[in-house]
Amino acid sequence: MVFRVSLERVVKRIRELEDPLVVCHIDADGLSSGGIVKKTLDTLDMKPEVMPIRQLDQTTYDDIPWDRNLIFVDLGSGKPEWTRSHVVIDHHQPIQKPPYHFNAHDLGINGSREISASGLSYIISKELIGHSELAGPAVVGAMGDRVKVPLKGYSKVPLETKWVKTVKGLRYYGRETRPISLMLQYASDPFIPGISSERSQCYKFLQDLKIEHSKTYHSLSKDERTKLNDALIKFAAKRGVPVHKMMGEYYILPAMPKGSEMRDANEFSTLLNACGRHDRPEIGIGLVTGENVYEEAKKLLRIHRRLLSRGMDELRVKGTEERKTYHLFISDTIKPTLVGIVAGIALSSRVVDHRKPIIALSKDKEGWKVSGRGTLELLDKGINIGLAMREASKGIGEGGGHDVAAGAFVPDDHIKVFLNRLDLIFRRQTS
Ligand code: C5P
Repeated sequence: MVFRVSLERVVKRIRELEDPLVVCHIDADGLSSGGIVKKTLDTLDMKPEVMPIRQLDQTTYDDIPWDRNLIFVDLGSGKPEWTRSHVVIDHHQPIQKPPYHFNAHDLGINGSREISASGLSYIISKELIGHSELAGPAVVGAMGDRVKVPLKGYSKVPLETKWVKTVKGLRYYGRETRPISLMLQYASDPFIPGISSERSQCYKFLQDLKIEHSKTYHSLSKDERTKLNDALIKFAAKRGVPVHKMMGEYYILPAMPKGSEMRDANEFSTLLNACGRHDRPEIGIGLVTGENVYEEAKKLLRIHRRLLSRGMDELRVKGTEERKTYHLFISDTIKPTLVGIVAGIALSSRVVDHRKPIIALSKDKEGWKVSGRGTLELLDKGINIGLAMREASKGIGEGGGHDVAAGAFVPDDHIKVFLNRLDLIFRRQTS
């Protein structure tokens, strides 16, 4: 009931807006959501504009034309005093409940793990224009923000359409575009000792199964795929890997070209991230709204991979500082928009010990961009990085985010206090 009332109020408000400006976040969920809302309003001939931003905080405040009709997506709930009269479609923890905020938490949905802003945007889009191909990006945003799979509840609305196909198989990254040898080498969550990060072992494993290593997972025949799944599970089970986490549901966008990142929802989310994090968010929006920008996006993806790999090199050489409850990585070269991704890779590939969260720092204007990453196992132990970031930055910076992935901005003078507070908070969370 609350859901219906809230949805109708927000939808009615959106219909009334003249000359709307969609302000969205630059990550995969933000660009998916921004694209969904843009295309929906285009369909209604409302001629929206889109403004992707890195974060809604003091550093971006002056760039926003506050006197216009704004629709914030994937951000805004943390700043009710600024966004009170505007439309906000968000899944981050809200502080208040202004009239046109469509926030997962207010609707009784856990916004961290059960729905993304793209899922909420699609529900609004469906209300305005009915089911559409935007169901694809709705799921892409969910994958980008690590919504729990199999999707449940309102996150399943896009799955009712022909634009998303639900498949069962290996949950590792790169099923559509990576040679299987590489997909196995980078298999990280869960980690398979003897396969993950072991290039030659991966080749041998595939050779023994008589599977061509250069094929992609999706280009294998049904028999080959079953043979590979079974052998890998057997191999992993012997080494104590929680094999139930290796297989599961994932999502394909059948209308997208075969062999392109846009066909697998997980890979599509990386493509969007590459656009947003390398200062071309409009290309990401174009991918979502169906413009001819794929080649442009691919170029950004190549740059993205190169920079992540350099970031990982820096982390390997420099190492981390061991704090009581977390690993601290202070980067000299990684861009503030990438440091969180590098931290996540370091943890999932076990370059750093996965039993502690990682906090990574990158120098930003007059302060530090902080990114924290955890694992599902750490959540089970009580760790909540989003709450920790918010609490540690109280009065000295700005922080927040999700339980497994969160960030903050902390001015130079306060960083020491912030890092000490984090130690105390993590200790309390796990005690
Ligand atoms: O920037 P980073 O990738 O580390 O952010 C991880 C998550 O934390 C993102 O979902 C981001 O929106 C959120 N975040 C936040 N408040 C901040 C910084 C990050 O909600 N001040």
